[in-house]
Amino acid sequence: MRTPIIVGNWKLNKTIREAVSLVDSLQPLVADVTDVEIVVAPVFTGLTAVAKALAGGNIRLGAQDVFWEDSGAFTGEVSPGMLKDVGCDYVIIGHSERRQYFSETNETVNRKAKAAHAHGLIPIICVGESLEERERGKTGAVVTDHVLNGIDGLTADQIVSTVIAYEPVWAIGTGHNATPNQAQEVHALIRSFLSEIYSANVASQVRIQYGGSVKPDNAAALIAQSDVDGALVGTASWEAESFAQIVKAANEAFLN
Ligand code: 13P
Repeated sequence: MRTPIIVGNWKLNKTIREAVSLVDSLQPLVADVTDVEIVVAPVFTGLTAVAKALAGGNIRLGAQDVFWEDSGAFTGEVSPGMLKDVGCDYVIIGHSERRQYFSETNETVNRKAKAAHAHGLIPIICVGESLEERERGKTGAVVTDHVLNGIDGLTADQIVSTVIAYEPVWAIGTGHNATPNQAQEVHALIRSFLSEIYSANVASQVRIQYGGSVKPDNAAALIAQSDVDGALVGTASWEAESFAQIVKAANEAFLN
């Protein structure tokens, strides 16, 4: 049984004060949730203060990106060891916004995923097709390309502790989520080729979360799908009540 994972991607939002205020509001709302992994991913400048605010609770910390080198002349970058140092357990890698605006490629995603694992960080590898690719019938090909190249060379142990986030670009920030069936279809495809590359047993342990306009009113139906193991939430995670409702929907889906 895979434990659902709900991740709040705060993107480029929240000062330190706003970030701490959000987790202070969120923690009591989800304090009773025991069957879902809950993660928030603030901007780098918020990590230290949010780590402190989360100490001893059931919400874990993630970052929104990482570089693959440990240290050196790489101005502006942050290393996996530094993310561990500040208290992160997770890191989002290859978000479509990074692919679109910051030249992220499958190759850099793969380097980052390997570096994350080398430092005991869990990578959340984002994959997904654009609207144009979907309309041209390329969804399967694009997602396969993103996943296979992103995870290239990961061991079975590493893939089991990797999270894959299927985020169709056309669903991100648009209010048009994939239907539960659309999500399930792609998630099942991802699991089937993980099964071919590794084994059915390994594939059955990998968590594949859905992202793209996940809201309190659609989360339950998405997470109820057999291969949808949680959600990567943008907009609805920037406010405590809506994010808590999504976490609770995942908890109920797990218990049912
Ligand atoms: P929205 O939930 O705002 O659509 O964003 C999804 C996302 O990009 C999460 O990484």
